[in-house]
Amino acid sequence: MATRIDEDYQQLKKSVHIYLIERLDEEGVEVEKATRESLQAFVQTAVGQYIANHRIPLATPDQTMLARETLDEIVGFGPLEPLLADDQINDILVNGAHVVFIEVAGVLQKVQTRFIDDEHVVRIIRRILAPLGRRIDESSPMVDARLPDGSRVNAIVPPIALDGPSLSIRKFSNKHLSATDLVNSGAMTSECLDLLVSVVEGRRNLLVSGGTGTGKTTILNMLSQYIPKDERVVTIEDSAELQLNHPHIVRLETRPANTEGSGKVTARDLIVNALRMRPDRVIVGEVRSGEIIELLQAMNTGHEGSMSTIHSNSAKDALVRIETLLAVNGYDAGERAIGRLIGSSLDIIVQLSRLPNGRRLISEVVALKPTMSDPYRMESLYRSPDLDFSPPAEEPV
Ligand SMILES: Nc1ncnc2c1ncn2[C@@H]1O[C@H](COP(=O)(O)OP(=O)(O)OP(=O)(O)O)[C@@H](O)[C@H]1O
Ligand SMILES: [Mg+2]
Repeated sequence: MATRIDEDYQQLKKSVHIYLIERLDEEGVEVEKATRESLQAFVQTAVGQYIANHRIPLATPDQTMLARETLDEIVGFGPLEPLLADDQINDILVNGAHVVFIEVAGVLQKVQTRFIDDEHVVRIIRRILAPLGRRIDESSPMVDARLPDGSRVNAIVPPIALDGPSLSIRKFSNKHLSATDLVNSGAMTSECLDLLVSVVEGRRNLLVSGGTGTGKTTILNMLSQYIPKDERVVTIEDSAELQLNHPHIVRLETRPANTEGSGKVTARDLIVNALRMRPDRVIVGEVRSGEIIELLQAMNTGHEGSMSTIHSNSAKDALVRIETLLAVNGYDAGERAIGRLIGSSLDIIVQLSRLPNGRRLISEVVALKPTMSDPYRMESLYRSPDLDFSPPAEEPV
């Protein structure tokens, strides 16, 4: 029996696909204009004909699967369709035609999904990019894009990607994790929630720090609902994924350079512009470059209560990362002045972690407090009861 991983089956899929394109062409069917139902009927008939003409022994369930997968090729994103439709899946990671991983509940696992060959992966990538007027090829081998449902996509192809075209999809989730969900699932205690609410309501400047996929955007979304409703909020993101629960929001999105190399709009440009828009708070999706300078200055000059996220594995690392970002992006000041800028602008770091079993949680909330002798000192306001913060046992002498 043919299975999805069977080479023969993949070859059959390829031949059926080619046959179907010919049939659609012969019949003058315009895929864009046809309804899904009529295409489904057309594909079913054509697949049946192909199987009969070539006397291929295929059980009815396999034939149904073949017809469904062929329809997904014609109108959807091919082998990705069932994965996109599955709400349990957070991430889909394609490493070339034959290796596909998914992430469910924080844990990565390999799946049986296969593409026919690398060309097939590239065809699906182009299908994703086409409506956006974006292209991918050897001269422009990396692209960020978004699916119609809001899922975030990155594609990178050979020769840069050595093991074949790679696709990384962070699926858009409309099942918002509410504050109650996060408390109930043990991501934070209710005391931690009370603390964070008072931080947001009290207009403290806050940075959510964590590794990839630890839930930074989720926490930023959750916190936004505690911004008083009479305030004006401007958000700045590389790819808009915040779904802030607030009535007065202006959303801005950065833009990469076009193929001629012009038209680029950076997060830095957008923070400068946002400050001319009379915001009460500025929310930056993630700081990863020079925009840190403008963000800290905004936090320091009447836009208290601003928030962002940063990629770091601990609150201490986040501070080191900020210092590095300031230094490499031309914030020309001595160590002490850099410390003073950080100490006078940033108030709170919310650190996130993902445990080996996939569970995500707020590991620590830290306050930055200026002191007489130091630009700031870190003070822990909350530590997850599920983590061990005790210092390592001293080595026996
Ligand atoms: N506490 C949680 N419990 C369960 N799932 C969570 C939790 N927090 C986030 N998630 C899920 O994990 C995925 C990643 O979350 P999110 O996008 O917020 O992470 P991120 O740190 O912003 O990721 P990235 O580094 O890619 O920007 C999402 O699908 C989200 O729904
Ligand atoms: Mg994020």
